[in-house]
Amino acid sequence: MDKIVVLDFGSQYSHLICRRIREFSVYAELVPFDISVEELQKHNPKGIIFSGGPSSVYSSDAPLPEEKIFDMDLPLLGICYGHQLIVNKYGGKVKRANKEYGSSLLTIDNDADLLNGVGESVRAWMSHGDEAEEIPPGFKVIGHTESAKAAAIASSEKYIYGIQFHPEVVHTEQGNEILKNFVLKVCGAKQDWTMKGFIDSELEKLSKIEGNVLCGVSGGIDSTVAALLIHKAIGERLKCVFVNNGLLRLDEEKEIEEMFKNNFKVNFTSVNAVKSFLGKLKGVEDPEKKRKIVGEEFVTVFTEFAEKNGPFKWLAQGTLYPDIIESGVSKGPAAVIKSHHNVGGLPDWLNLDILEPLKELYKDEVREIAKILEVPEKLFMRHPFPGPGLAVRIIGEVTPKKLQICKLASKIVEEELMEANLYRNVWQSYAAVGDDKAVGVVGDERKYGNIVMVRVVDSIDAMTADWTRLPHGLLEKISNRITNEIEDVTWVTYTISSKPPATIEPQ
Ligand code: XMP
Repeated sequence: MDKIVVLDFGSQYSHLICRRIREFSVYAELVPFDISVEELQKHNPKGIIFSGGPSSVYSSDAPLPEEKIFDMDLPLLGICYGHQLIVNKYGGKVKRANKEYGSSLLTIDNDADLLNGVGESVRAWMSHGDEAEEIPPGFKVIGHTESAKAAAIASSEKYIYGIQFHPEVVHTEQGNEILKNFVLKVCGAKQDWTMKGFIDSELEKLSKIEGNVLCGVSGGIDSTVAALLIHKAIGERLKCVFVNNGLLRLDEEKEIEEMFKNNFKVNFTSVNAVKSFLGKLKGVEDPEKKRKIVGEEFVTVFTEFAEKNGPFKWLAQGTLYPDIIESGVSKGPAAVIKSHHNVGGLPDWLNLDILEPLKELYKDEVREIAKILEVPEKLFMRHPFPGPGLAVRIIGEVTPKKLQICKLASKIVEEELMEANLYRNVWQSYAAVGDDKAVGVVGDERKYGNIVMVRVVDSIDAMTADWTRLPHGLLEKISNRITNEIEDVTWVTYTISSKPPATIEPQ
């Protein structure tokens, strides 16, 4: 398989470069900027990309790639900081400039190769402090903006290119075309990265493993797809366990059991641990304590299952690529392979090796595999759900009554968004409940009932979020249904705080 290697100099967009390249079916991998040439050669790349980064090439601690990389004679594209590295290395001059952040008009001066077919001018996304003042001998300017005279440079003979802007972000028009020109035309990489191909090669690898595999499934897409792949490869030697902690969405445990047993036909056990989880949570109000209790209880139940149903050789997890690498100048991916066990804290004496069949994949690639494996669409279109479940959506103590209100109200929110065809457009949607009460009139009587908070947010990655401007008619319908259908609820509020300063979950 042809591969493009992206050296990570710490830009928040480094990951996106790989994603964009994989979107046109070429495999791309992010590696630390200080990777050795020997390591790099093992990847056998068709081309190299230097990512952007927050540093200046002139600062004393500027991250630099190993010198010998420039002697590898491979096509090279530098983006932003990577562009400045190239200018500096080949004898040009980088100067401090006014910070430029946002969209600029890039005029194309030469569309022979890298900028081929993108038109006469495009909007390009800039995010930089330094810029190229003099270009190196042997290079030519192929694009400029009003403030950056050498916004794109090329040495077509050496196959080396530098661009000041970020082609990987959606705000750069034709950004994908520019990446394609580099990857497909300059590097000559073949478009042979497909999810069907991935499934075939992964099944071949998985079918060689020996011993039994234990897989904790949550009903989420990652653990489900990991389990299905392993099941396809080793059948009954995979045992899936699902822990029902009583903190799930309404009837979710039944749906998950039905799906695994009847649709997927895998070896599946649902452990009903509702009593022990809710028992441990009794009287606990502090959100972090609740999180800790849920995590610890999960490990206890899971360990008991493993002891009774073992021996197991492997613990399978649905870890994804972004989980195992963390962009950062000082610590490249290899250095920060975290103790990223989704099932953290399992006792060492269980002595399980970790199996992570999805660890090279992004979420959208996992979704594609889910489609190929015929996972019901309902599952992979579902909104993210926090590990500690409703324990963090119930403010204060988790009581059976608040749990019931939270489940029923959330169900109404989801149903109404689906009915309005808005469910897929929003990032998360749910109802939360606390101990606040307000007076209402039920029948002819005054009633002091619970207040339910409806939260619907838009987000791209959960790092920031904006409250969704739902139509008033829809809010009214949600409110009416919640107060009519759920006993003891008298008021419904809609949360209009964005993140930051709020968070997505109330706790
Ligand atoms: P916040 O509330 O921090 O949430 O804005 C960001 C994203 O993370 C999810 N979330 C959690 N997920 N364990 C999880 O597995 C947790 O303790 C947890 N807390 C928040 C939240 O649903 C949102 O998608």
